[in-house]
Amino acid sequence: MNMRDYEPYYTEDGSIGLYSYADKDVYHSKFGALTEAWEKFVIPSGISSLIDNKQNIKVLDVCYGIGYNTKALMSFIINKNLKQIKNKNLIEKIRYFVSIHTNNFFKKKESELLVYNESIDTNNSLFENLKIDCLDINKELMKLSPFFKTIKTPGEVYDSFVPQIFTCFDSYYKLRKIYENIASIFYPRNKKTIKEKLDIKFKNMHIDKEYKVNGLVNYILINSLSKNFKKNYIDNELKKILKERQISNFLDKSTIRYARFNQFWEYNLSSGNILSTFLHNIYYRYLSSRYKNINFKKAEHLFDVNFYPNDARKTIKKLKETYDCIFLDAFTYTLAPQLWSVEFVNELYEHLNDNGVILTYSNSAQIRNTFLENNLFVGKIYNKKLGKFVGTIASKNKSKIKYPLTNYELGLCNTTAGIPYHDPNLSFSKKEILEFREYEFRHSNLMSSSKYIKIRSMRESNDEI
Ligand SMILES: C[S@@+](CC[C@H](N)C(=O)[O-])C[C@H]1O[C@@H](n2cnc3c(N)ncnc32)[C@H](O)[C@@H]1O
Repeated sequence: MNMRDYEPYYTEDGSIGLYSYADKDVYHSKFGALTEAWEKFVIPSGISSLIDNKQNIKVLDVCYGIGYNTKALMSFIINKNLKQIKNKNLIEKIRYFVSIHTNNFFKKKESELLVYNESIDTNNSLFENLKIDCLDINKELMKLSPFFKTIKTPGEVYDSFVPQIFTCFDSYYKLRKIYENIASIFYPRNKKTIKEKLDIKFKNMHIDKEYKVNGLVNYILINSLSKNFKKNYIDNELKKILKERQISNFLDKSTIRYARFNQFWEYNLSSGNILSTFLHNIYYRYLSSRYKNINFKKAEHLFDVNFYPNDARKTIKKLKETYDCIFLDAFTYTLAPQLWSVEFVNELYEHLNDNGVILTYSNSAQIRNTFLENNLFVGKIYNKKLGKFVGTIASKNKSKIKYPLTNYELGLCNTTAGIPYHDPNLSFSKKEILEFREYEFRHSNLMSSSKYIKIRSMRESNDEI
């Protein structure tokens, strides 16, 4: 029996994916959880041109999970807006150093430490702030999300260290072989498992450099989660999970220490006495080296991240915002139909700006038709690298659709394959939604998709003749 109903594993780009036992589905593409976030959500969202033209951008992440889509988006914004202050900007570094040390004597709160409110380097973009509202029914995963390791793939580790150390081994395969042989001397009976594990560890997992999550993102998310859940963020239940071996191997211990210390400081210590001033100074020293630096402060102010741990069908009715971009990353529609109904997409429509876009990984005729039924313009997400379509984009504005559905695809939406789910009050169970569609399917006068495909291919071959 598994302790949790999800299990982490490494996906092929080296980022961590989850498998859900309850939903019998993967949370992320096994080809690469993080790559998928970039290629199906962040890049096609048009964020790059949005930040040049808008001050405040609002994004709704439906099915936040462990937050890859949000993390990739934040990473994009940070990298684009924040010029790293390295050795070349010595004066700024000195000013910052002095400001931190003089302020540590007088100020107690982190927010007060922002002594000079310098504007960020914006590369001529208008952008000032990104609000992300994150919806997921699984509060546990939400809270865990910033602790999952930000990838360092075995391929990268190998590329950076091994060639220098083991130059005598002229290939990586030799090194792997040696590991394997040594391991099988000590654990002869486990030879097969060792081989399998090494296969995973030494698989040349690679991810594009620009797809990496900026190191600041998880720390910013911890601060946002702390604000959201307050002293209940790291509660006893979360502490238990953080220690479970099945999960803890996939977690980054330094982020956990940061979160625990943060919460301890914020909620367990009262300010105003010598002890708390003393501890406060330790707190800054503890965090200063990497994350309490100027880049962290600047980056954090770019974001307003909010968490809604509930059924997205309930949350959506309460949200007042309209969004520039909505990520719809629910489980496969046949397994978890709740967030794919005409009525739920109608809620998304109501929360979408006139120039906004909804993005999903699904290519199915049924989901496309669900968007069409809501009077959205519908198109495909094209991945240049793979040379294929990898998802669906919908908008109220036709010009946002670069690759509209073809006549063939529109025709397919109009067959039984396109019959959408219904969930009239957004309260049906999964079973009820599936049965409702099954009923409609059986009583439908529409052409079956197999017949449609057959007729179309016959017509095409006749045209060729
Ligand atoms: C495919 S995963 C999302 C992966 C996620 N985008 C990530 O980067 O990790 C689907 C998510 O939908 C959530 N979910 C399932 N039913 C839901 C519901 N009714 N409302 C909100 N979230 C739901 C699950 O908890 C799961 O995290």
